[in-house]
Amino acid sequence: MSENIKKLTDQYNNYIYPKPCENIEDEWLSKNMFKNNDPNYQWHKLWPEHPYSRDKMNILIAGCGSDEAAILAKCNPVHNFIGVDLSENSLNHQRKLIKKHSIKNLKLICDDFRNQKFQSKFNYIISSGVIHHLDEPSSALNFFNKNLTDQGVLFLMVYGNQLSESIKGLKDVFKKFKFSQNEESIESIKKITNKLHKKHPSKNFLNFFNDFSYDAGIVDIFLHSKEKFYSLSSLIKELKENNFIIKNFIDGKVASATKYMMDNPNLIKKYKELSPDDQLDIAQRLNWNDRIIEVICTKSHNKNYSRFYNKIDLDKIYTYSSQNIKYKFDKSSFEITNVYDGTKFKFNLNNNEIEWEKILSGQYKLKNLFSSFSNENKKNLYNLIEFMIDNYFLDFSFNKVENYKQYYG
Ligand SMILES: C[S@@+](CC[C@H](N)C(=O)[O-])C[C@H]1O[C@@H](n2cnc3c(N)ncnc32)[C@H](O)[C@@H]1O
Repeated sequence: MSENIKKLTDQYNNYIYPKPCENIEDEWLSKNMFKNNDPNYQWHKLWPEHPYSRDKMNILIAGCGSDEAAILAKCNPVHNFIGVDLSENSLNHQRKLIKKHSIKNLKLICDDFRNQKFQSKFNYIISSGVIHHLDEPSSALNFFNKNLTDQGVLFLMVYGNQLSESIKGLKDVFKKFKFSQNEESIESIKKITNKLHKKHPSKNFLNFFNDFSYDAGIVDIFLHSKEKFYSLSSLIKELKENNFIIKNFIDGKVASATKYMMDNPNLIKKYKELSPDDQLDIAQRLNWNDRIIEVICTKSHNKNYSRFYNKIDLDKIYTYSSQNIKYKFDKSSFEITNVYDGTKFKFNLNNNEIEWEKILSGQYKLKNLFSSFSNENKKNLYNLIEFMIDNYFLDFSFNKVENYKQYYG
């Protein structure tokens, strides 16, 4: 066992992560909450090219932590799940959840997932907050490539390198004090950080996350034995070397950019003439809020299904409301509020034929909604829709959004 794996095993045995859910019914299902990588809830982002289906899939959760596999398996009883983790203690908590909720579709394995030889390939692999802790993240991507079906999808969550800069100074201080993964160091960290000036850059960081509210979270933020922070360019490069490309992101937190150039069509044009990789690099820097980059990847031969390497034909899509966006519209205006960060965008429109309910419902092909419009009106609306899609104010699929009512209604 490598030194890196030994340290990770010890850390996640001593501090199981995340702070685990105790009851999936109470904490998730009854609140209508779903994980961002839930295959049912996110179907149209994971596979916009495939009609919604509830056929059984094989799903691997590589580094499943204290509750992720149990929550996903409970919420998706039709699929077969395998969860692998280094930490026996984390898996023990998942075993409690399996027992409590009589979960039948989840197998747990305690090991480095890269040692596993599976009998068949997976339709969907999830690895959230894992590969950036490995000596060689590429070895995990290589393993995912070998174990994913041709049309399969990989959900990755990795840390970005912008927002995390704001705690780098503090981490250096804690290193000088030789703080380590123990109660005394954690207490000292809590005391010091609580006393920092409210404009200290790390306060900004800590206010974003609830990880600071529990010990395993504090260890994860300040005392991790190994972590890598990704620029999107370096992530794209590592993915490419392992036969993957980015297909989509879960939301616009990191990947949206033209919202910053809204009143300047020439600049938007310039931006769009850049390569997809350069566009994403700019988006990450402008958004900055990248501690968590949640990205949906596919094998490189599926370029046609990537929203970054293939222009979306608006005539072919169905559009539906986005997770974190609230919409307000009347005959002459359309307003969007990003619930996550409070930003608002308002568009004044002199066209009272627009049926926003239908545009937001996922039930209508865009082309059919605008068939009676003049060319000029259709062009203007398509520009607006493209802007909304580019900034994740509106989601799309090439198929009818069958599960819309269940989750977005
Ligand atoms: C930050 S936690 C994330 C847990 C979970 N994915 C989630 O998002 O809730 C990282 C987990 O990955 C596990 N892990 C890291 N490297 C691993 C490896 N090579 N094989 C199996 N598990 C690993 C750790 O033990 C830990 O439980």
